Amino acid sequence: MDMGLTGKVAVVMASSRGLGRASALQLAREGAHLAIASRSAERIAATAKAISAETGARVLHRAVDVTRAEDIAAFAAEVASVYGRVDVLVNNGGGPPPGTFDALDEQAFVAATNLVLLNVVRTTKAILPLIRSHKGGGRIITVTSAGAREPLYNMMLSNSLRPAIHGWTKTLSKELGPEGITVNCIAPGIVGTERIDELIAANSQRMVKPPEQVRAEMIARIPLGRFGRPEEFGAVVAFLGSAWASYISGTTIYVDGAAMASVV
Ligand SMILES: NC(=O)c1ccc[n+]([C@@H]2O[C@H](COP(=O)([O-])OP(=O)(O)OC[C@H]3O[C@@H](n4cnc5c(N)ncnc54)[C@H](OP(=O)(O)O)[C@@H]3O)[C@@H](O)[C@H]2O)c1
Repeated sequence: MDMGLTGKVAVVMASSRGLGRASALQLAREGAHLAIASRSAERIAATAKAISAETGARVLHRAVDVTRAEDIAAFAAEVASVYGRVDVLVNNGGGPPPGTFDALDEQAFVAATNLVLLNVVRTTKAILPLIRSHKGGGRIITVTSAGAREPLYNMMLSNSLRPAIHGWTKTLSKELGPEGITVNCIAPGIVGTERIDELIAANSQRMVKPPEQVRAEMIARIPLGRFGRPEEFGAVVAFLGSAWASYISGTTIYVDGAAMASVV
């Protein structure tokens, strides 16, 4: 089945591991060329090599800290000079630290705003001209969290900031719709990555319970009976990035194994 991604250029941020990596890999499997970035030059180079070896895709890679405007500007300039265009942008970043309100000072909120919200704003500002330039429409997809709709235990920073991205996405979808550019979010529930292992360790300490018990209790709250797999998340990114998703914009797809209780 041709998803219309062959020869398209996809930029995937924070993609050396976890959800970003799985997203980049699936886009490449569907025929896209990639530009991928994360903080560690070694990790992102290794990921680029592995994806290229598996898929044959052209993979540009660079060390970028999404909290640093100058890193993103340099990456966008390199993407412009190598590919001259972008069709799909996947905004992603590391997650903010866990913690309750009492445990977090104002500086923690400032740092998390930079990582979670301003990252998306500055990356989109840098890449949007490359989507607009070819006048062929495009896709902007942002990785958020199911906690944006149903707040998660001990995740004050993420729960506070992700909903702002949903508001930004809805607003931008209306502004860019006339140019054929769709703007959406994908919100994971619990997808098994290193980030989840770290959160289980933090919750285990806080709840004074063994990590295996914390994990089992989390799984017990998921009707599908397990954590999601990164490739299941990557498949949704590839779908939203594809020609098949041409009439979906301004919305959020939840990839949560039916864990959330909200109807709308
Ligand atoms: N997994 C889930 O179930 C889940 C659920 C809800 C929300 N989320 C959110 O989804 C996002 C991705 O989660 P994940 O599970 O894939 O996390 P992960 O396994 O910890 O991977 C994070 C990725 O982001 C990169 N990264 C971290 N900080 C960065 C920065 N400042 N600049 C550039 N790259 C950075 C890391 O690479 P380097 O170390 O090389 O920089 C790595 O490739 C996070 O925001 C997370 O909070 C995940």
